[in-house]
Amino acid sequence: MPNDNPPSHSQARHARLRAPQVAIVGATGAVGIELIACLEQRGFPLAGLRLFASPRSAGKTLAFRGQDLPVEVMEAASLDGIDIALFSAGSGASKHFAPAAAANGTIVVDNSSAFRMDPDVPLVVPEVNAAAIALHRGIIANPNCVAIIAAVPLAPLHAANPIRRIIASTYQAASGAGAAAMAELRDATAAHLAGVKFENKVLAHPYAFNLFSHDTDIDPVTGENGEEIKVGRELRKIMGVPDLRVGVTCVRVPVLRAHTIAMTIEFDQPIGVDAARELLAAAPGIRIVDDRARNHFPMPREATGQGDVLVGRLREDASDPSGRSLSMLVAGDQLLKGAALNAVQIAERVMQG
Ligand SMILES: NC(=O)c1ccc[n+]([C@@H]2O[C@H](COP(=O)([O-])OP(=O)(O)OC[C@H]3O[C@@H](n4cnc5c(N)ncnc54)[C@H](OP(=O)(O)O)[C@@H]3O)[C@@H](O)[C@H]2O)c1
Repeated sequence: MPNDNPPSHSQARHARLRAPQVAIVGATGAVGIELIACLEQRGFPLAGLRLFASPRSAGKTLAFRGQDLPVEVMEAASLDGIDIALFSAGSGASKHFAPAAAANGTIVVDNSSAFRMDPDVPLVVPEVNAAAIALHRGIIANPNCVAIIAAVPLAPLHAANPIRRIIASTYQAASGAGAAAMAELRDATAAHLAGVKFENKVLAHPYAFNLFSHDTDIDPVTGENGEEIKVGRELRKIMGVPDLRVGVTCVRVPVLRAHTIAMTIEFDQPIGVDAARELLAAAPGIRIVDDRARNHFPMPREATGQGDVLVGRLREDASDPSGRSLSMLVAGDQLLKGAALNAVQIAERVMQG
Protein backbone atom coordinates (compact mmCIF):
# COMPACT_ATOMS: atom_id res chain seq x y z
CA MET A 1 0.00 0.00 0.00
CA PRO A 2 1.34 3.47 -0.79
CA ASN A 3 2.29 5.54 2.23
CA ASP A 4 0.06 8.65 2.06
CA ASN A 5 1.41 10.13 5.29
CA PRO A 6 3.20 13.43 4.67
CA PRO A 7 6.87 13.35 5.72
CA SER A 8 7.45 14.43 9.32
CA HIS A 9 9.32 17.64 10.08
CA SER A 10 12.50 15.70 10.89
CA GLN A 11 12.21 13.50 7.76
CA ALA A 12 11.86 16.62 5.62
CA ARG A 13 14.88 18.17 7.33
CA HIS A 14 16.95 15.01 6.79
CA ALA A 15 16.03 15.01 3.11
CA ARG A 16 17.04 18.68 2.77
CA LEU A 17 20.32 18.07 4.58
CA ARG A 18 21.40 15.57 1.92
CA ALA A 19 21.87 18.54 -0.44
CA PRO A 20 21.55 21.63 1.74
CA GLN A 21 21.38 25.30 0.96
CA VAL A 22 24.55 26.64 2.59
CA ALA A 23 25.58 30.17 3.55
CA ILE A 24 28.90 31.59 4.72
CA VAL A 25 28.62 34.68 6.92
CA GLY A 26 31.96 36.50 6.88
CA ALA A 27 32.89 35.07 3.49
CA THR A 28 35.50 37.74 2.68
CA GLY A 29 37.54 37.18 5.86
CA ALA A 30 40.62 35.04 6.48
CA VAL A 31 38.45 32.13 7.68
CA GLY A 32 35.63 32.79 5.20
CA ILE A 33 37.93 32.42 2.19
CA GLU A 34 39.14 29.08 3.59
CA LEU A 35 35.55 27.94 4.20
CA ILE A 36 34.81 28.45 0.50
CA ALA A 37 37.99 26.56 -0.43
CA CYS A 38 37.17 23.67 1.95
CA LEU A 39 33.64 23.27 0.57
CA GLU A 40 35.08 23.19 -2.94
CA GLN A 41 38.03 20.87 -2.22
CA ARG A 42 35.96 18.39 -0.21
CA GLY A 43 33.19 18.22 -2.83
CA PHE A 44 30.63 19.24 -0.21
CA PRO A 45 27.27 18.13 -1.70
CA LEU A 46 25.38 21.39 -1.43
CA ALA A 47 22.38 22.53 -3.46
CA GLY A 48 23.40 26.19 -3.35
CA LEU A 49 25.92 28.51 -1.69
CA ARG A 50 25.36 32.12 -0.68
CA LEU A 51 28.05 34.43 0.62
CA PHE A 52 27.53 37.24 3.13
CA ALA A 53 29.76 39.93 4.62
CA SER A 54 29.50 43.51 5.87
CA PRO A 55 28.45 46.51 3.76
CA ARG A 56 32.20 47.09 3.13
CA SER A 57 32.14 44.13 0.74
CA ALA A 58 29.05 45.09 -1.23
CA GLY A 59 29.66 44.52 -4.95
CA LYS A 60 32.49 41.99 -4.46
CA THR A 61 32.36 38.50 -5.95
CA LEU A 62 34.19 35.34 -4.86
CA ALA A 63 34.84 32.25 -6.99
CA PHE A 64 33.26 28.89 -6.15
CA ARG A 65 33.28 25.86 -8.47
CA GLY A 66 34.08 27.99 -11.52
CA GLN A 67 31.40 30.60 -10.82
CA ASP A 68 31.70 34.12 -9.45
CA LEU A 69 29.25 34.34 -6.56
CA PRO A 70 28.11 37.78 -5.33
CA VAL A 71 28.97 38.77 -1.76
CA GLU A 72 25.70 39.94 -0.23
CA VAL A 73 25.33 42.32 2.68
CA MET A 74 24.17 40.40 5.76
CA GLU A 75 20.70 41.39 6.96
CA ALA A 76 18.09 39.97 9.35
CA ALA A 77 16.26 37.89 6.71
CA SER A 78 19.37 36.83 4.77
CA LEU A 79 19.35 33.24 6.07
CA ASP A 80 15.69 32.48 5.28
CA GLY A 81 15.70 29.16 3.40
CA ILE A 82 19.31 28.36 4.37
CA ASP A 83 19.81 24.88 5.87
CA ILE A 84 23.39 25.26 7.14
CA ALA A 85 25.08 28.61 7.90
CA LEU A 86 28.81 28.74 8.57
CA PHE A 87 29.48 31.88 10.61
CA SER A 88 32.93 33.52 10.74
CA ALA A 89 32.14 37.20 11.14
CA GLY A 90 33.07 37.80 14.78
CA SER A 91 31.11 37.42 18.01
CA GLY A 92 28.98 40.52 17.46
CA ALA A 93 27.55 39.30 14.16
CA SER A 94 27.04 35.79 15.57
CA LYS A 95 25.13 37.07 18.60
CA HIS A 96 23.08 39.37 16.36
CA PHE A 97 22.10 36.90 13.64
CA ALA A 98 22.67 33.28 14.75
CA PRO A 99 19.96 32.75 17.42
CA ALA A 100 17.17 34.01 15.13
CA ALA A 101 18.50 31.93 12.23
CA ALA A 102 18.61 28.82 14.44
CA ALA A 103 15.07 29.48 15.67
CA ASN A 104 14.04 29.69 12.02
CA GLY A 105 15.41 26.20 11.23
CA THR A 106 18.93 27.00 10.01
CA ILE A 107 21.69 24.93 11.59
CA VAL A 108 24.49 27.33 12.53
CA VAL A 109 28.14 26.28 12.83
CA ASP A 110 29.76 29.25 14.54
CA ASN A 111 33.47 30.07 14.46
CA SER A 112 33.24 32.91 16.96
CA SER A 113 33.51 32.62 20.73
CA ALA A 114 29.91 33.85 21.22
CA PHE A 115 28.29 30.54 22.24
CA ARG A 116 31.21 28.22 22.97
CA MET A 117 30.65 27.99 26.71
CA ASP A 118 26.83 27.94 26.51
CA PRO A 119 25.81 24.61 28.10
CA ASP A 120 23.17 24.15 25.37
CA VAL A 121 25.71 24.53 22.57
CA PRO A 122 28.02 21.64 21.66
CA LEU A 123 31.67 22.64 21.27
CA VAL A 124 33.05 20.18 18.77
CA VAL A 125 36.26 18.81 17.35
CA PRO A 126 34.97 15.89 15.26
CA GLU A 127 38.01 13.67 15.96
CA VAL A 128 37.40 14.13 19.71
CA ASN A 129 33.68 14.53 20.52
CA ALA A 130 31.64 14.16 17.33
CA ALA A 131 28.83 12.56 19.34
CA ALA A 132 28.09 15.95 20.93
CA ILE A 133 26.83 17.23 17.55
CA ALA A 134 23.60 15.25 18.00
CA LEU A 135 22.78 17.34 21.09
CA HIS A 136 22.61 20.63 19.20
CA ARG A 137 19.58 22.92 19.36
CA GLY A 138 20.40 24.85 16.21
CA ILE A 139 23.87 26.16 17.03
CA ILE A 140 27.14 24.19 17.12
CA ALA A 141 30.29 26.03 18.17
CA ASN A 142 33.69 25.66 16.57
CA PRO A 143 36.33 25.94 19.31
CA ASN A 144 39.21 28.40 19.62
CA CYS A 145 41.97 27.58 17.15
CA VAL A 146 44.59 26.72 19.80
CA ALA A 147 42.08 24.53 21.64
CA ILE A 148 41.32 22.58 18.44
CA ILE A 149 44.97 22.10 17.47
CA ALA A 150 45.84 20.98 21.02
CA ALA A 151 42.78 18.73 21.44
CA VAL A 152 43.48 16.63 18.34
CA PRO A 153 46.68 15.03 19.79
CA LEU A 154 45.61 15.26 23.44
CA ALA A 155 42.44 13.20 22.94
CA PRO A 156 43.98 9.86 21.88
CA LEU A 157 46.58 10.13 24.65
CA HIS A 158 43.89 10.95 27.21
CA ALA A 159 41.76 7.98 26.09
CA ALA A 160 44.67 5.64 26.86
CA ASN A 161 46.02 7.31 30.00
CA PRO A 162 43.99 10.12 31.63
CA ILE A 163 45.63 13.54 31.47
CA ARG A 164 45.83 15.39 34.78
CA ARG A 165 47.65 18.59 33.83
CA ILE A 166 48.81 20.47 30.75
CA ILE A 167 51.35 23.28 30.60
CA ALA A 168 51.50 24.92 27.18
CA SER A 169 53.19 27.82 25.41
CA THR A 170 51.88 29.01 22.07
CA TYR A 171 53.58 30.60 19.07
CA GLN A 172 50.57 32.12 17.29
CA ALA A 173 50.57 33.38 13.73
CA ALA A 174 49.19 36.64 12.34
CA SER A 175 46.40 34.76 10.56
CA GLY A 176 44.78 34.01 13.91
CA ALA A 177 43.94 37.71 14.15
CA GLY A 178 42.35 37.84 10.69
CA ALA A 179 43.13 39.11 7.22
CA ALA A 180 44.04 42.62 8.37
CA ALA A 181 46.71 41.29 10.79
CA MET A 182 48.27 39.19 8.03
CA ALA A 183 48.46 42.31 5.84
CA GLU A 184 50.01 44.25 8.74
CA LEU A 185 52.74 41.63 9.23
CA ARG A 186 53.60 41.71 5.51
CA ASP A 187 53.60 45.53 5.36
CA ALA A 188 55.51 45.99 8.63
CA THR A 189 58.19 43.51 7.54
CA ALA A 190 58.62 45.18 4.13
CA ALA A 191 58.84 48.61 5.80
CA HIS A 192 61.36 47.35 8.38
CA LEU A 193 63.60 45.88 5.68
CA ALA A 194 63.37 49.09 3.65
CA GLY A 195 64.20 51.17 6.74
CA VAL A 196 60.86 52.98 6.47
CA LYS A 197 58.87 54.03 9.54
CA PHE A 198 55.72 51.91 9.97
CA GLU A 199 52.77 52.65 12.20
CA ASN A 200 50.93 49.51 13.33
CA LYS A 201 47.13 49.82 13.25
CA VAL A 202 45.76 46.30 13.75
CA LEU A 203 47.89 44.89 16.55
CA ALA A 204 49.05 46.88 19.54
CA HIS A 205 52.79 46.33 19.14
CA PRO A 206 55.39 46.44 16.36
CA TYR A 207 55.16 43.06 14.63
CA ALA A 208 58.15 42.81 12.30
CA PHE A 209 61.05 40.87 13.91
CA ASN A 210 59.24 40.97 17.24
CA LEU A 211 56.87 38.90 19.35
CA PHE A 212 54.48 39.82 22.12
CA SER A 213 52.02 38.46 24.63
CA HIS A 214 48.69 37.63 22.93
CA ASP A 215 46.62 40.66 22.00
CA THR A 216 43.59 39.84 24.18
CA ASP A 217 42.71 41.64 27.41
CA ILE A 218 44.34 40.59 30.67
CA ASP A 219 42.13 39.50 33.55
CA PRO A 220 43.19 41.90 36.32
CA VAL A 221 42.68 39.26 39.01
CA THR A 222 44.33 36.17 37.51
CA GLY A 223 46.74 37.85 35.06
CA GLU A 224 45.62 35.45 32.32
CA ASN A 225 44.78 36.92 28.93
CA GLY A 226 41.54 36.20 27.09
CA GLU A 227 43.10 33.64 24.76
CA GLU A 228 44.64 31.69 27.66
CA ILE A 229 41.29 31.60 29.46
CA LYS A 230 39.54 30.35 26.30
CA VAL A 231 42.08 27.58 25.70
CA GLY A 232 41.76 26.19 29.24
CA ARG A 233 38.00 26.24 29.56
CA GLU A 234 37.37 25.06 25.99
CA LEU A 235 39.78 22.13 26.33
CA ARG A 236 37.94 21.08 29.49
CA LYS A 237 34.58 21.20 27.66
CA ILE A 238 35.75 19.46 24.45
CA MET A 239 37.56 16.71 26.33
CA GLY A 240 34.79 16.37 28.91
CA VAL A 241 37.20 16.76 31.84
CA PRO A 242 35.87 19.58 34.05
CA ASP A 243 38.80 19.40 36.48
CA LEU A 244 41.58 19.26 33.87
CA ARG A 245 44.40 21.56 35.03
CA VAL A 246 45.60 23.75 32.17
CA GLY A 247 48.21 26.53 32.30
CA VAL A 248 48.87 28.37 29.04
CA THR A 249 51.06 31.26 27.91
CA CYS A 250 49.83 32.63 24.56
CA VAL A 251 52.28 34.60 22.44
CA ARG A 252 51.87 36.17 19.01
CA VAL A 253 54.91 35.54 16.78
CA PRO A 254 55.76 37.05 13.37
CA VAL A 255 54.64 33.97 11.42
CA LEU A 256 52.09 34.56 8.68
CA ARG A 257 50.03 31.42 9.10
CA ALA A 258 49.72 28.30 11.34
CA HIS A 259 50.06 28.12 15.11
CA THR A 260 52.66 26.09 17.01
CA ILE A 261 52.18 24.88 20.59
CA ALA A 262 54.74 23.42 23.01
CA MET A 263 52.99 21.22 25.56
CA THR A 264 54.07 19.33 28.64
CA ILE A 265 51.42 16.83 29.68
CA GLU A 266 51.13 15.03 33.00
CA PHE A 267 49.29 11.69 32.89
CA ASP A 268 47.71 9.54 35.55
CA GLN A 269 50.20 6.72 34.92
CA PRO A 270 53.73 6.55 33.48
CA ILE A 271 53.67 6.80 29.68
CA GLY A 272 56.53 5.84 27.38
CA VAL A 273 57.51 7.97 24.40
CA ASP A 274 57.19 5.06 21.96
CA ALA A 275 53.74 4.12 23.25
CA ALA A 276 52.60 7.73 22.95
CA ARG A 277 53.98 7.99 19.41
CA GLU A 278 52.09 4.83 18.42
CA LEU A 279 48.83 6.16 19.86
CA LEU A 280 49.27 9.47 18.04
CA ALA A 281 50.25 7.84 14.74
CA ALA A 282 47.07 5.73 14.80
CA ALA A 283 44.78 8.67 15.61
CA PRO A 284 42.82 10.62 12.97
CA GLY A 285 43.90 14.11 11.93
CA ILE A 286 47.54 13.73 13.00
CA ARG A 287 50.82 13.49 11.05
CA ILE A 288 53.91 12.57 13.05
CA VAL A 289 56.92 14.79 12.25
CA ASP A 290 59.55 13.56 14.68
CA ASP A 291 62.94 13.09 13.03
CA ARG A 292 65.58 13.51 15.72
CA ALA A 293 68.49 12.74 13.39
CA ARG A 294 67.58 15.60 11.06
CA ASN A 295 66.28 17.88 13.81
CA HIS A 296 63.04 18.01 11.84
CA PHE A 297 59.94 18.67 13.91
CA PRO A 298 56.57 20.44 13.44
CA MET A 299 56.91 23.86 11.85
CA PRO A 300 54.24 26.40 10.85
CA ARG A 301 55.58 26.59 7.28
CA GLU A 302 55.00 22.85 6.86
CA ALA A 303 51.64 22.94 8.65
CA THR A 304 50.35 25.69 6.35
CA GLY A 305 47.72 24.38 3.95
CA GLN A 306 47.55 21.00 5.75
CA GLY A 307 44.41 19.56 7.30
CA ASP A 308 46.41 17.40 9.70
CA VAL A 309 47.99 18.61 12.93
CA LEU A 310 51.75 17.95 12.89
CA VAL A 311 53.03 16.33 16.10
CA GLY A 312 56.62 15.64 17.17
CA ARG A 313 59.54 16.50 19.47
CA LEU A 314 58.11 13.76 21.68
CA ARG A 315 60.17 13.20 24.81
CA GLU A 316 59.84 12.50 28.48
CA ASP A 317 59.63 15.66 30.54
CA ALA A 318 63.06 15.87 32.17
CA SER A 319 61.62 17.72 35.18
CA ASP A 320 59.34 14.82 36.20
CA PRO A 321 61.31 11.72 37.25
CA SER A 322 58.07 9.73 37.77
CA GLY A 323 57.79 9.06 34.00
CA ARG A 324 54.22 10.36 33.98
CA SER A 325 54.99 13.53 31.97
CA LEU A 326 55.60 13.94 28.27
CA SER A 327 56.57 16.99 26.21
CA MET A 328 55.73 17.58 22.57
CA LEU A 329 55.52 20.22 19.88
CA VAL A 330 52.49 20.53 17.61
CA ALA A 331 51.77 22.79 14.65
CA GLY A 332 48.47 23.24 12.84
CA ASP A 333 47.01 25.53 10.23
CA GLN A 334 44.57 27.40 12.39
CA LEU A 335 42.72 28.79 9.37
CA LEU A 336 42.05 25.17 8.32
CA LYS A 337 41.88 22.66 11.19
CA GLY A 338 41.71 25.53 13.70
CA ALA A 339 38.71 27.10 11.95
CA ALA A 340 37.36 26.45 8.43
CA LEU A 341 38.13 22.75 8.02
CA ASN A 342 36.83 21.89 11.50
CA ALA A 343 33.60 23.80 10.76
CA VAL A 344 33.11 22.02 7.44
CA GLN A 345 33.82 18.64 9.10
CA ILE A 346 31.08 19.48 11.63
CA ALA A 347 28.69 20.40 8.80
CA GLU A 348 29.47 17.09 7.07
CA ARG A 349 28.58 15.21 10.27
CA VAL A 350 25.38 17.24 10.59
CA MET A 351 24.40 16.10 7.10
CA GLN A 352 25.04 12.47 8.04
CA GLY A 353 22.42 12.92 10.79
N1 LIG B 1 41.55 33.67 12.03
C1 LIG B 1 41.49 32.53 12.70
O1 LIG B 1 42.44 31.75 12.71
C2 LIG B 1 40.28 32.13 13.45
C3 LIG B 1 40.27 30.87 14.05
C4 LIG B 1 39.13 30.45 14.75
C5 LIG B 1 38.06 31.33 14.83
N2 LIG B 1 38.11 32.56 14.25
C6 LIG B 1 36.94 33.42 14.37
O2 LIG B 1 36.33 33.53 13.08
C7 LIG B 1 35.77 34.84 12.95
C8 LIG B 1 36.35 35.50 11.71
O3 LIG B 1 37.76 35.61 11.84
P1 LIG B 1 38.70 36.05 10.64
O4 LIG B 1 40.06 35.83 11.11
O5 LIG B 1 38.25 35.44 9.36
O6 LIG B 1 38.41 37.65 10.61
P2 LIG B 1 38.55 38.66 9.39
O7 LIG B 1 39.60 38.25 8.44
O8 LIG B 1 38.68 39.99 10.03
O9 LIG B 1 37.13 38.57 8.64
C9 LIG B 1 35.93 38.99 9.25
C10 LIG B 1 34.78 38.71 8.31
O10 LIG B 1 33.55 39.05 8.95
C11 LIG B 1 32.82 39.96 8.11
N3 LIG B 1 31.96 40.79 8.95
C12 LIG B 1 32.33 41.66 9.91
N4 LIG B 1 31.22 42.20 10.47
C13 LIG B 1 30.15 41.65 9.84
C14 LIG B 1 28.74 41.81 9.96
N5 LIG B 1 28.20 42.64 10.85
N6 LIG B 1 27.95 41.10 9.14
C15 LIG B 1 28.46 40.24 8.24
N7 LIG B 1 29.80 40.05 8.07
C16 LIG B 1 30.62 40.76 8.87
C17 LIG B 1 33.88 40.69 7.35
O11 LIG B 1 33.32 41.31 6.22
P3 LIG B 1 34.05 42.55 5.47
O12 LIG B 1 35.17 41.95 4.66
O13 LIG B 1 32.94 43.08 4.62
O14 LIG B 1 34.54 43.47 6.52
C18 LIG B 1 34.80 39.53 7.02
O15 LIG B 1 34.25 38.76 5.97
C19 LIG B 1 36.06 35.55 14.26
O16 LIG B 1 34.96 35.38 15.11
C20 LIG B 1 37.26 34.83 14.80
O17 LIG B 1 37.34 34.91 16.21
C21 LIG B 1 39.19 32.97 13.55
